[in-house]
Amino acid sequence: MDEAWSAVENAETKTLKDLFAAEPDRLERLTIDEAGIRFDFAKTHLSRAEVDAFAALAGAADLAGRRDALFGGDIANPTEGRAAEHTAERGEGAPESVARARQLHARMRTLIDAIEAEAFGPVRHILHVGIGGSALGPDFLVDALGRDAGRYDTAIVSNVDGSALEEAVAGFDPHSTLLVIASKTFTTTETMLNASSALAWMEEGGVEDPLGRVIALTASPEKALEFGIDETRVLPFSESVGGRFSLWSSIGFPAALALGWDAFESLLEGAAAMDRHFRLAPPERNAPVLAAFVDRYYADVRGAETRAVFAYDERLRLLPPYLQQLEMESNGKSVRVDGSPVGRATAAITWGGVGTDAQHAVFQLLHQGTHLVPVEFVAAIEPGDSLDPEHHRQLLINCFAQGAALMAGRGSDDPHRFYPGDRPSTTILLGRVDARTLGALIAFYEHRVFANAALLGINPFDQFGVELGKEMAKALDGRNALDFDPSTEALIARAFDAE
Ligand code: F6P
Repeated sequence: MDEAWSAVENAETKTLKDLFAAEPDRLERLTIDEAGIRFDFAKTHLSRAEVDAFAALAGAADLAGRRDALFGGDIANPTEGRAAEHTAERGEGAPESVARARQLHARMRTLIDAIEAEAFGPVRHILHVGIGGSALGPDFLVDALGRDAGRYDTAIVSNVDGSALEEAVAGFDPHSTLLVIASKTFTTTETMLNASSALAWMEEGGVEDPLGRVIALTASPEKALEFGIDETRVLPFSESVGGRFSLWSSIGFPAALALGWDAFESLLEGAAAMDRHFRLAPPERNAPVLAAFVDRYYADVRGAETRAVFAYDERLRLLPPYLQQLEMESNGKSVRVDGSPVGRATAAITWGGVGTDAQHAVFQLLHQGTHLVPVEFVAAIEPGDSLDPEHHRQLLINCFAQGAALMAGRGSDDPHRFYPGDRPSTTILLGRVDARTLGALIAFYEHRVFANAALLGINPFDQFGVELGKEMAKALDGRNALDFDPSTEALIARAFDAE
């Protein structure tokens, strides 16, 4: 492994301009068209030699073996002793996991049909409470696709700040609201508090049996039953589907309801197409694997601490926050699977925003700042609005111009007007923003995370790092651990002593 990493670290590095000049087939080699998406890695510093070195590293790290174990339903999450079954949700996995996922999807669909047939009375509003992986995926999908197809007013509330819930229900009629409680564990404090306040809001609004209008999405169905939700309205999913990989399972219910079952199926099909690409394409023609090479190159070889994702499409504005959880919760680790220190940079800090807005806010630093930031542009060829086509043309023109400017730079005798250039970017160009293409896009990001983890030898499927803070909050809540540091003690006293 050390030898393979040395080859990666020592492969000759040229400027982007020199790479284009030296490698006439560069664009062709580093552009992949798959599942309705163009992935263009040509404006990154991956030379032919670098790709070869990374391919050798992938071999040494047994990326292919780990990938086969993932799709074969073996223990892909060893620290929790579980498989990782998100691909089985889209029909690509161990046959028994696929069969179980299909059964659970059938239950989802039956419930959706019943809601559409008004079996629970009229439903106009969907109030979804959940947090992290139990909110970010559905939120992204409904926001991206619900503009055209949204059949219900959908509000997704995650923050425990009561203002979030108050705002969400402000325009809702409690009598025609369906409350969806999404929590893999069904114990998450924020979600359980939001759920009980939402139930209280329904009760105060005169709904006779609020619990009769609740749907639970969970891998702990017994807890939902204890909560008082009828079994027919509890939609389980497998414990082996990780929270941030769960939008394909019953956690996708609000999206399936709001967008329609056909859209949900298209989402799964798009993801399955990307699964097959990831499983079958050789490393040098494999979009998630090449993207992982780019990530590792900038994080490890060039020491970039962050990576920035800009969605040049309003419909994709929730992509950066979605990716923040997927990438940082998965690979923000310091030890390898065997517990030994990983000894190199793991996940970069993912940040970003929406183009063109970000151009007028943060791009100064990207063009002239001292940090190296690999940038990712995500755009779509088809517009999302029916206004003057000039709007969408301008969006794409700006997106492409920024990538070109970052690479080209511009010389000047005036240091204030000098652009160093040679700054890398990847462009991901969707044919259109529809369910199938988004399924493929999200699956691409999942596999990229997995490929990064395999190269680093870490487990992307656990998240023990979030537990300590939760435990401290519980201890503080019960005031049963009064040995916090002096600063925290003073803050507690300042905020609560008047209670
Ligand atoms: O705190 C992190 C986390 O465990 C995420 O991994 C998860 O997506 C989120 O909390 C919500 O958890 P749950 O779905 O169990 O409520």
